[in-house]
Amino acid sequence: MATGAGDRYWAGQALPSVFKHTLLDKYVPQFAGMTGSIGRRVVYLDGYAGRGRYTDGTPASAEKILMVAQSQFERVGLAWICYFVEQDPESARALGDVVGEYVAKGVTALAHRGDVQDVLDQVVASAVGCPLFAFLDPCGLGLPFDRMSSLLNGERKKDWPPTEFLLNFSLDAVRRIGGHVTGQRNEATLRRMDDAVGGRWWREHFAGGVNDAAVEAVVAGFSERMSAATGMHLVAVPVRRAPTHKPVYDLCPAPGSVEARN
Ligand SMILES: C[S@@+](CC[C@H](N)C(=O)[O-])C[C@H]1O[C@@H](n2cnc3c(N)ncnc32)[C@H](O)[C@@H]1O
Repeated sequence: MATGAGDRYWAGQALPSVFKHTLLDKYVPQFAGMTGSIGRRVVYLDGYAGRGRYTDGTPASAEKILMVAQSQFERVGLAWICYFVEQDPESARALGDVVGEYVAKGVTALAHRGDVQDVLDQVVASAVGCPLFAFLDPCGLGLPFDRMSSLLNGERKKDWPPTEFLLNFSLDAVRRIGGHVTGQRNEATLRRMDDAVGGRWWREHFAGGVNDAAVEAVVAGFSERMSAATGMHLVAVPVRRAPTHKPVYDLCPAPGSVEARN
């Protein structure tokens, strides 16, 4: 289950967000500029968008991309279609306000309040014939494995136009849920992890308790299974709160994909 991000999270950008936002800033405009140069159109999904902007006024993931979309449309006529999804009502309200500001400036963008899974089919349908970039940044577990792999097969299986993902794979969630294997068992929680990683295979790694090797084995197993199921290549980049801390997530770019962890 993906969990929420409250007022403290949105007070200002914390260190683990700097890396993923820098990747968005540096990579997504290049991806759009290069892959969108033929059809002059790209589709972008921020499936766990949050509030769009921090309380201190700093752009968060949604506003960063809205700024790029506005700039590329005005400078080179590249048309972006942006989808932003947020489940929490308060965050969705704030996100809607930020998206509205850019829609008023001519950006084509939709803010949806609800589950990211509500919009996946619409996003894929609107991206037929053009590049698609998706940023999936849950606080906890993300899309079910089967939903994610079916999304990356079908229409998006083709080499061109390309599909790339930046995925936050939460290691904090893996550690926490891994503790249920030998500790106080919550079957529903264990099954949510089964759904997220594509089966019960991960549980055996925690038979000896929660440790770094078990967490690494889950990341490796997930990457291998997702690559096998979709033909995409995932690269896991560990992201920490501080140099001496354990990684909070892997950021996973998938070209046909990009991957990240926290
Ligand atoms: C880590 S925060 C997003 C941060 C944002 N991407 C950024 O970098 O500025 C994750 C967000 O996902 C939202 N969320 C959780 N489950 C969701 C779901 N199933 N569909 C859409 N949003 C969800 C949470 O409410 C939370 O605001």
